[in-house]
Amino acid sequence: MSGIRKEDIRAALARRRQEGNFRSCSCVQRRSGAHIWVDGREYINFSSNDYLGMAASAVLEEAWRRGLEIWGAGSGASPLVTGMSDIHRELAAWIADFLDMEAVLLFSSGFAANQAVIKTFCGSDTVFYMDRLAHASLQDAAMHSKGRLLRFTHNSPESLERYMRKYGPGLVVTEGVFSMDGDQPPLAEILEVAERYGSDVMLDDAHGFGVLGEQGRGTVNAQNLTHDRFAIVTGTFGKAYGTGGAFVATSAENAAYMENFAREYIYSTFMPPAQAYATLRSMQYVAEEPFMRELVGHHVQSFRRQLKDTSFTLLPSEVSIQPLIVGESEKALELSEFLKTRGFWASAIRPPTVPKGTARIRFTLTAGHKYVEIDALCMTLIEWDLCHKAERRS
Ligand SMILES: Cc1ncc(COP(=O)(O)O)c(C=O)c1O
Repeated sequence: MSGIRKEDIRAALARRRQEGNFRSCSCVQRRSGAHIWVDGREYINFSSNDYLGMAASAVLEEAWRRGLEIWGAGSGASPLVTGMSDIHRELAAWIADFLDMEAVLLFSSGFAANQAVIKTFCGSDTVFYMDRLAHASLQDAAMHSKGRLLRFTHNSPESLERYMRKYGPGLVVTEGVFSMDGDQPPLAEILEVAERYGSDVMLDDAHGFGVLGEQGRGTVNAQNLTHDRFAIVTGTFGKAYGTGGAFVATSAENAAYMENFAREYIYSTFMPPAQAYATLRSMQYVAEEPFMRELVGHHVQSFRRQLKDTSFTLLPSEVSIQPLIVGESEKALELSEFLKTRGFWASAIRPPTVPKGTARIRFTLTAGHKYVEIDALCMTLIEWDLCHKAERRS
């Protein structure tokens, strides 16, 4: 009997195909701003998390080059061995100051940062109160930990309180902006419930950091709160800041604890120093230049205004992430394919990434898009909607 169960694998893959949920990567041959080339064809990309258009910016291109010249391409080791350079420290200190938190640790990815937090701070009696729609990196870590995972109703402090009344204090885990819906939790109310039950709150602000709040300080700042009310804040650099990697912001004591016990931190090659430099430059630039955030705001308003009289279901999102709920996976795939024929790349998001029956096209409107590109997309969606309305009538 082999270790890999071939029959189970074949059955699972067949099931995925049958349900219309089979996935595979499309390979991008070239990128230029918000445009990509796939299989020799050019598309306007509406499926990127490069919200501010930084990934393709001249600022970042120059910063990567300079970072490479000064610090070299790779860190060569994990941070506690010889992987840590002064530029890593500078980036961490800049973020700590920006968020007004005591300490920051850097990670190679947001997935690793979230796993590290959940696993490192989990004891056998830890209760995780996690928003039902929290990212896979958070849910997986809690599910495979020694703690107990309780999932409260999405963005509902009332549901959180019902659980806390029954199960006592624990670590509340939520996000600033939810990645598939684009909505935000009422953070003040969540904090209030948690504090009343003597609990800490961890916030993953992967999609709010850089985009929301004063100078891009994120969802906490946009909701007129301060980061010090959260025990832990995580954020990624691969979205608004256009590079890659992530951070954990917390107290000095928690950071020292993670440095000593977080296996994802200790046993992993540290982010390349050139990347740390490019990320720092990106963060400084984004903090100084509000026009990219303003442009995204205009695109969001225009998109929502143009589609308000269609039969598409728009979710209450004020940020780049604008999902159109379609329902069944096949329908989402059909719309995604139609958009491709018109030169728009917009991926269908299907179960298990989103709940069954809520397959969607998750559009991301970015500072890399032109006004005319948003208009052209909306006209195409309106055309699709009108055709389908006519079909439904006949
Ligand atoms: C909410 C959230 N947290 C964490 C991550 C993981 O971040 P990274 O892509 O840096 O691994 C993602 C990725 O999409 C995310 O949406």
